[in-house]
Amino acid sequence: MRIGVLTGGGDCPGLNAVIRGAVRKGTKDYGHEFIGFRYGWKGPIEGITQPLNWDIVENLYDQGGTILRSSRTNPYKVEGGVDAIRKNMAELGVDALIAIGGEDTLGVAKKLTDDGINCVGVPKTIDNDLGETDYTFGFDTAVNIATEAIDRLWTTADSHERCIVVEIMGRHAGWMTLHAGMAGGANAVLIPEVEFDVKQVIEQVQSRFDQGKASIVAVSEGAVSKGGDMQLKDGETDAFGHVKLGGVGDWVADQITKGTGRETRAVVLGHTQRGGPPTAFDRVLATRLGIQAAAAATEGDFGKMMALQGTDIVRVPLEAATAELKTVPVERYEELGVFFGS
Ligand code: F6P
Repeated sequence: MRIGVLTGGGDCPGLNAVIRGAVRKGTKDYGHEFIGFRYGWKGPIEGITQPLNWDIVENLYDQGGTILRSSRTNPYKVEGGVDAIRKNMAELGVDALIAIGGEDTLGVAKKLTDDGINCVGVPKTIDNDLGETDYTFGFDTAVNIATEAIDRLWTTADSHERCIVVEIMGRHAGWMTLHAGMAGGANAVLIPEVEFDVKQVIEQVQSRFDQGKASIVAVSEGAVSKGGDMQLKDGETDAFGHVKLGGVGDWVADQITKGTGRETRAVVLGHTQRGGPPTAFDRVLATRLGIQAAAAATEGDFGKMMALQGTDIVRVPLEAATAELKTVPVERYEELGVFFGS
């Protein structure tokens, strides 16, 4: 069997460990050959490939990014895109694809499976917003990076008795902000799922100033104030219709400065959260998902996504996994309330 592998969407620590797990399992246990498709779905559409074998993947367990590169190409938005994938796979003798990606990449994998192209999916995203899996790899790394950043911001915030607003990635799901905010002892956590009242945030920060204390406010890039809109970088959208977010941290800091009269700074963590080596947790999860993806492709179990449920790697329909985003339940958010402003 010849299996093509691709990585789509925003990169994420652990992608290379998935590739390594799949290639090692598929080569050693099943005698398969592998081929890498570069730049997400652009690779199979345009026939852009790279070799992928036992030796090439040897040291990939701890490497951030993706050796296959990535893009946000959508074959269903490219004229003749799906037929081109079919043709290129046939010419290259590729029987199946392992697509490693988030809701967009896996949504395409689901449609391609319906269109007769054999796909197996592996969930990746630092946002942790895919359904049917307890965690996605990359999330743990991103939360650790954000938590370390908050730890560092605390000592400087304390020294100046100042409020620092930290803007954390997460378009529609606040998982990273929730976890990093809790782990880093933030005094206010603002997530996309729950509209925030900026007046309340100002009061919380002021009450800490009154006690001679600094504050950290953790805000998701997609958080929205009551009666407000998402803060956009510009009006452009990508091939999956996503807008670029950014600016809510500055806005909140500005409001706190105006409301308290104390100069407040905003720090945007941005892509530092996606870069660098994966944590041990993400390396293990990614490796196990890769191994299971090779097994699923071998068994012809297409249209499935590998998922973590409890401590087991299971296979779930791509359709169920991509049906709706997994957002933070309000009860999880309310747990944090006890720390706000205190
Ligand atoms: O989906 C993952 C993610 O990192 C989001 O948290 C973020 O909004 C988005 O990708 C940014 O991606 P890019 O800068 O690559 O367009």
